Amino acid sequence: MTMRGRARAAPSIMLPIETPRLILRDFRKNDLEAVHAYASLDEVSRYLIWGPNSLAQSKEAIEGFLDDQRARPRVIFDLAITLKPKRALIGGVGLRFIDQFNRTGEIGYTLHPEFWGYGLAVEAARALLDAGFNELGLRRIIAVCDQRNKASARVMERLGMRREGAFRSSKLIQNGWRDEYLYAILADEFR
Ligand SMILES: CC(C)(COP(=O)(O)OP(=O)(O)OC[C@H]1O[C@@H](n2cnc3c(N)ncnc32)[C@H](O)[C@@H]1OP(=O)(O)O)[C@@H](O)C(=O)NCCC(=O)NCCS
Repeated sequence: MTMRGRARAAPSIMLPIETPRLILRDFRKNDLEAVHAYASLDEVSRYLIWGPNSLAQSKEAIEGFLDDQRARPRVIFDLAITLKPKRALIGGVGLRFIDQFNRTGEIGYTLHPEFWGYGLAVEAARALLDAGFNELGLRRIIAVCDQRNKASARVMERLGMRREGAFRSSKLIQNGWRDEYLYAILADEFR
């Protein structure tokens, strides 16, 4: 068989992703309760552009994740963070193409507060950066956070991301306009 005429498969991420403490997998319809447990909390959404979610909003979010999973090529990978050994769902980590031509992606992460402070966000995000660079072929991955979100900025720094910019009054969140930091890491630096 010749290669002519055969469409080249778009790059994708092999799931689930396993790390020492975590398994990252696609969200499922029956994750609603576990997702809502953190997505409905003020302390989680304080610096985010979404939330605190109503139950209907959490349901809508999961339906969106399922739509993204079916898209071909798939360009959005929002994954459930589950904790070994019982695989309890404790948060989410996401990677999306924001500029396919320039092979640039954006990463984000959220954990239930019960699981803050154990290095789990770094562990999950590092695994997804690895997949983004080595499986999706990205060459640049960015992340953006509210300048007051010290925990998020620290996660980015622990990942080896560099602060490239500080934007003033750049996004409207629940309680007003916020200033943001832009962080980024390149494939070569990650390796
Ligand atoms: C951001 C978030 C995911 C961090 O999760 P986490 O698992 O607690 O982070 P880690 O345990 O991996 O800690 C990473 C670093 O941040 C530091 N950190 C955590 N909370 C902090 C805080 N409130 N202030 C300053 N530093 C903090 C930790 O000490 C650690 O740094 P160190 O290794 O130098 O000690 C979590 O706080 C969260 O879910 N927040 C709500 C959602 C959110 O804001 N997401 C980011 C969107 S941009």
